[in-house]
Amino acid sequence: MGHQIALCASLSGYKVKCTDTNPDILAKAISFADNYLKERVIKGKLSEEAANQAYENIAFTSNIEDAAADADLVIEAIIEKLDIKRTLFADLDRICPAHTILTTNSSYIVSSRIADATNRPDKVCNMHFFNPALVMKLVEVVKSPHVSDETVEVLMNASRKMNKTPVLLHKEIYGFLVNRFLQATRQEALKLLDMGVASFEDIDIAVKNGLGYPMGPFQLIDLTGIDLAYHVGMEKYQESGDPADRPSPTIVEKYTKGEWGKKQVKDFIITIPKQILTKK
Ligand code: 3HC
Repeated sequence: MGHQIALCASLSGYKVKCTDTNPDILAKAISFADNYLKERVIKGKLSEEAANQAYENIAFTSNIEDAAADADLVIEAIIEKLDIKRTLFADLDRICPAHTILTTNSSYIVSSRIADATNRPDKVCNMHFFNPALVMKLVEVVKSPHVSDETVEVLMNASRKMNKTPVLLHKEIYGFLVNRFLQATRQEALKLLDMGVASFEDIDIAVKNGLGYPMGPFQLIDLTGIDLAYHVGMEKYQESGDPADRPSPTIVEKYTKGEWGKKQVKDFIITIPKQILTKK
């Protein structure tokens, strides 16, 4: 999600640096930004001037020191693993100026589990976007006990400036608001599938047409990633020891086979408009 959040920020006038340690992922992010902005102009959704400005506002680097040394706000969107997030936040705490707010786009992990890896817990906060971040309006901001009122105010305002609709959670809770609903639907869908009650296609059709959801639960897992569903389940299971928290057999099988969903075919999706653009 990181590259889409970065584009949202650059489109709303922020100077952004988008960073990833993996050069392949970074190359994909650059290619996505290039194609997305061109496509928006062709679709008539964005002026050429606004697209050029957004392009100028965003830089890509694989060096975290370059990316974070002069940042006012950092939005982390890395793998959903607590130990890796804690290591990153400790690094960011060392690299960033004292005033920098460090946020996590984690799907489930509350910021109090990360804040004490830094020397600035009042400036470590959940800022949760939704997939696809360029389209979805919601941002959840969580006022954990260690987070200052000033940090919350900055993040609510920054979300609005990014043309998002922020909601404020007054308490920390695993999964925040939306992912608690999502998890309930998803678990039921996987249970029905694993029990052989209906095919995944029919479960999606039922939820879309019976509940009016824009996507069925399986289409949504495909969009947000099987890897995310797997890691979220495993983290929770390792913590609780409750077998009910383990990822479903379907998720484990797909994760192990490396079938992680739509994110793996993005190259294909991205190159189609690029070829069209080149021909024009
Ligand atoms: N990236 C960027 N933009 C995208 C996109 C993508 N992957 N997919 C679609 N879009 C854009 C299109 O460009 C189009 O923009 P435009 O109308 O301004 O031209 C617009 O979205 C509509 O696209 P389509 O007409 O192709 O398709 P749909 O009307 O079916 O909409 C959808 C696609 C917006 C993804 C819609 O199906 C939807 O809202 N799905 C539900 C998504 C959802 O529930 N997200 C939350 C997931 S939970 C989460 O993220 C939490 C995390 O912690 C796991």
